[in-house]
Amino acid sequence: MIRIEENISLKPYHTFGMNVNTRYFAEYETVEDLRSLLISPLIKNNNNLHIGGGSNLLFTKDYTGIIIHSCIKTYTKTEDLDFVYLKVGAGVVWDDFVAYTVQNGWGGAENLSYIPGEVGASAVQNVGAYGVEAKDLIERVYTISVETGEERIFTNEECNYGYRTSIFKKELRGQYIVTHVEFKLHKNPIFKLTYGNLQAVVGEPTLMSVRNAVISVRKQKLPEPSEKGSAGSFFINPVVETEKYQDLKKQYPEMPSYPASDGKVKLSAAWLIDKAGWHGKRVGGAAVYPKQCLVLVNDNNATPQDVIELASQIKNSVYEKYGVIITPEVNYI
Ligand code: EPU
Repeated sequence: MIRIEENISLKPYHTFGMNVNTRYFAEYETVEDLRSLLISPLIKNNNNLHIGGGSNLLFTKDYTGIIIHSCIKTYTKTEDLDFVYLKVGAGVVWDDFVAYTVQNGWGGAENLSYIPGEVGASAVQNVGAYGVEAKDLIERVYTISVETGEERIFTNEECNYGYRTSIFKKELRGQYIVTHVEFKLHKNPIFKLTYGNLQAVVGEPTLMSVRNAVISVRKQKLPEPSEKGSAGSFFINPVVETEKYQDLKKQYPEMPSYPASDGKVKLSAAWLIDKAGWHGKRVGGAAVYPKQCLVLVNDNNATPQDVIELASQIKNSVYEKYGVIITPEVNYI
């Protein structure tokens, strides 16, 4: 079934909770529905944007085209001796999927508990937390070509995964719509508890104790989407050359850092922002979340302009203080 609405508020469809509207909004339940939607005049004659849970979007003004959203919510399971392969509909809420794997005793997704958003977007964005990224469990990504309506299945390698990125955000941006993601899950879980103080919070590791620990750490640091609008981390952690890192480390010996690919070094954007004095600062209704400086929140009826202004001031000040460019993880629409 396809459901189309006209002139509705986007407030319920994105986690920043901005007061913005869309001209059209369409939801579909099956791949066949998606195919007929893609050849409809509504799509041919309007700009369109496919969203997931809307947890990584900043609508800068009303949307004049059509917003599309998947309601494919199927689960299909196959297995071999060691692994369960779960093909999950793009419209499944990410944390419902994680909860389902934990309840069934299948390992791999537990560190990614409580991340907002939906399964389809996880394969585009390569969501990550507590030492695990979606790419570590993605086996295949099922898509439909926007141009031809034909199915194309991408292997994990073909997705070109990197830190918060994939081929779907870069070379093939806008060309394919994810319909299902197949995850490879361990029948005998292997726990990854080395990130921060996770081990200490977990105690005796079981899938459920790891999930509960991750949820409790996230709740301490990140705002509840239902209570305060935000898009999680607003910026991506910057990756710098070794020489740049060494310069900064001399000035700021306590600065956190992590090894990145090609001998480069990943810095903590939260730390840079925090130490540049942004803790709790605000512009209009937008604010830096005091418990995690990487998160900008809609504290009090923020307008898109408040958030844009706050983000741009932060970016400029981090560049002036450290000579490091931080780029938004959030997509400006
Ligand atoms: N820190 C500060 N000030 C703060 C917050 C953190 O100095 O206000 C320091 C911490 O002391 C720590 C470092 O910054 O040394 C890193 O902080 P944290 O562990 O919270 O991780 P992060 O790098 O800021 C990333 C992800 C989060 C994910 C966490 C946990 C990105 C852009 N963000 O944040 O993902 O939950 O790690 O794994 O990579 C998201 O993408 O929306 C998101 C929430």
